Amino acid sequence: MSDEQTGGKSHMADAAIRIEGLRKTYRGGKGQPEKQALKGIDLTIPRGSVFGLLGPNGAGKSTLINILAGLVVKSAGSVSIWGFDQDRNPRQSRASIGVMPQELNLDPFFTPRGALEVQAGLYGVPKAQRRSDEILELVGLRDKAEAYARTLSGGMRRRLLLAKALVHHPKILVLDEPTAGVDIELRQMLWTNVRKLNERGMTIILTTHYLEEAQEMCDEIAIINHGEKVTQDSTSNLLSRMDSRTMVIVPDGPISDLPATDGVEATLRDDGNLVLQYRSTLTSAERVLEAVRSANIRIRDVRTEEADLEDVFLELTSSRAEDLLAGDQDQPHRGMHRVKL
Ligand SMILES: Nc1ncnc2c1ncn2[C@@H]1O[C@H](COP(=O)(O)OP(=O)(O)OP(=O)(O)O)[C@@H](O)[C@H]1O
Ligand SMILES: [Mg+2]
Repeated sequence: MSDEQTGGKSHMADAAIRIEGLRKTYRGGKGQPEKQALKGIDLTIPRGSVFGLLGPNGAGKSTLINILAGLVVKSAGSVSIWGFDQDRNPRQSRASIGVMPQELNLDPFFTPRGALEVQAGLYGVPKAQRRSDEILELVGLRDKAEAYARTLSGGMRRRLLLAKALVHHPKILVLDEPTAGVDIELRQMLWTNVRKLNERGMTIILTTHYLEEAQEMCDEIAIINHGEKVTQDSTSNLLSRMDSRTMVIVPDGPISDLPATDGVEATLRDDGNLVLQYRSTLTSAERVLEAVRSANIRIRDVRTEEADLEDVFLELTSSRAEDLLAGDQDQPHRGMHRVKL
């Protein structure tokens, strides 16, 4: 999405969320030092998007989301939700957003239906406009409507948290790690619902550690690290920024010598295939293939892989990030290692 659509000052009212200079310092208790969880974040989230907020553990994602939800009090900065300033219009800003938190904080003595009724009451949804059954159906909890929350499984509790976030028909739905540790069925239910709700016009904000999911689901992504925003862009722009390429060669016969040429890292895998890594801005595919031929390797099959969001994420949150941001992109490429989040 262009800068104009996502951030231009003249489009202020069009943003789903507008955050400026957001800071949070947790006071350290009992000899613990204070913790600067957010160090001055500016973030504009366009209406109608599926927006991913990514970052490693402890980056400050939940802190930011809990500030949006009104569960954590910010230390400085401004937050506007659907055009309503959180401090000046607390009621309207709260009514515009529904949050499914990362922590499973449910009252064990409520049933799902009871919990939804209480939530609807808290948000002042009139009885005639309540749709508890419809929402329970949506999240697949219809048959558990009268069970005590303490008897629900972890996955069912997550479903109930999603249901609670939807009770007041918010413009914006925020999901903090919705799929962490859930089974395939629940994950699919979540993504189906996210797509459905987004198609009906709801803006979705989510955090996830599954980068494939973010790549698939999100139109736009912000990455935060150590309480600071590292980047924000459309998912496709983020991916095209990466120039790392991988070529996999299936050789016709065993390989005795690995090809050696500048800017190409060659590794022989256990399955006998040859993996070549290079940067498309420094080396061409042609040069890589020449190196393969001059090592007397006959090619039976070849395929190339482009960078994925995991590569982007690692570049931006690893120690190389500072070099990259300083424009120093000519450093030798990082090795073959893959770090799972
Ligand atoms: N209530 C609190 N008191 C003190 N420090 C806190 C509190 N909550 C969070 N922190 C600290 O603030 C930092 C950011 O935490 P936060 O939970 O926002 O990270 P996160 O990005 O959501 O991480 P994760 O991916 O693990 O969920 C961490 O260093 C954390 O230890
Ligand atoms: Mg978190």
